[in-house]
Amino acid sequence: MGCQYFDPCESGADSFSVVVPRVTFGRGCLAEVGQRAAWRGYKRVALFTDPGLRDGPYVATVRAALAAEGIDVAVFDALRIEPDDTTTEDAGRFLADGKFDAIVSVGGGSVIDTAKGAAILAQHGGTLEDYFAPPIGRGKPVPGEVLPHIACPTTAGTGSECTSITVIRFNKLDCKFVLSSPYILPIEALVDPACVDSLPSNVVASTGFDLLSHALECYTARAYTRWDKVENSVARPLLQGANPWSDLAAREALDIAGQYLARGVADAGDTEARDKLAWGATLAGMAFGNSGTHLPHAMSYGVTDYMRDIASLRTDGYSVDAPFVPHGISVIVNAPAIFRYCAAGAPERHLEAANHLLADAKGATPDDAGEVLSARLVELMRATGMPNGLSALGFQADHCKPMAESSVRQVRAIGNAPRESNVVDMENMYRDALSYW
Ligand SMILES: [Fe+2]
Repeated sequence: MGCQYFDPCESGADSFSVVVPRVTFGRGCLAEVGQRAAWRGYKRVALFTDPGLRDGPYVATVRAALAAEGIDVAVFDALRIEPDDTTTEDAGRFLADGKFDAIVSVGGGSVIDTAKGAAILAQHGGTLEDYFAPPIGRGKPVPGEVLPHIACPTTAGTGSECTSITVIRFNKLDCKFVLSSPYILPIEALVDPACVDSLPSNVVASTGFDLLSHALECYTARAYTRWDKVENSVARPLLQGANPWSDLAAREALDIAGQYLARGVADAGDTEARDKLAWGATLAGMAFGNSGTHLPHAMSYGVTDYMRDIASLRTDGYSVDAPFVPHGISVIVNAPAIFRYCAAGAPERHLEAANHLLADAKGATPDDAGEVLSARLVELMRATGMPNGLSALGFQADHCKPMAESSVRQVRAIGNAPRESNVVDMENMYRDALSYW
């Protein structure tokens, strides 16, 4: 398939852009944060983390490294898993009041995303609604630079350390939305896989499926040449569709997920597998940060919007005292049904992706791509203790229509899928996702 996927298309984009932070990867590199910050001339930084990490070893390492360089630190940890507008706006006020030179974030996607949203508010004022796209907000572009941000992920999945995206829940709408701006790309990412060593297996599974789906979605996304050409090059979105760069990183991330996800979940002592997953998450972040995701992420928001209806819903490994489905599980639980649907839009790509995930594709033709890929995802879900579809989380058939009506608002991501879908198609995909085995 290769280049043909990106064949020029009349009035379609003929260029793509790539941005990534300066990335450092390796065991122990978290301790480099002091030198990195000092080299950049920072004297006072805001350290974003969460209450569970605040008194733990990773934050201690970062604080010691910054202190060794004489850098003053103030900590913000009043945030929640799945950041919302209220905590992000609180964080924005903390930043605005603190006279900081930079932000250092230590945590999972929730911590990094809160820091990104807060940085916009601290620098440019207003509320989050000003910057999110209609109909949620007023769609004002982020007007310029924000505080530089060194992101230190402590899970292997989010990829947020390498993206210009933040995902924030709007409480009054009870729904998560995505904001993308080149100004919120971290300036540096320090990815220390030792941070993943102590994660419970269910957290490794959820974040691992997030990385897998990032890679799979950007590999199967609509080609960038199928999006409209931009008149103003500065306005070229980074959520621009699949492109040769995102392919490069996504293929490697898929190879890693296919080979190491089940191992990394099964054995906390398998440092080879967990190191690979941390690298795969970083690669997948560099890929989808320059292509965008599509339906599995768009439809994950229907799950997290309606999880409140299922009072008993909890997930081992997460200390959330309310109905809760972690992001990676909300993504993967629908994915086999979604890829079964989407494969017809780009069958060769789906078959290639299945092969990278080590699917049993012997004798398969492109017509079989959806089934082969879906079967491999289900196999990996079963091997890692994932729920058997939406029904195993407590959802029922009558949730499918309202979930589709909620998810259909994720317009850009839906448009990035290789096959068009409307609200009825999405409802049918949710029905198909109720159980798999
Ligand atoms: Fe994700």
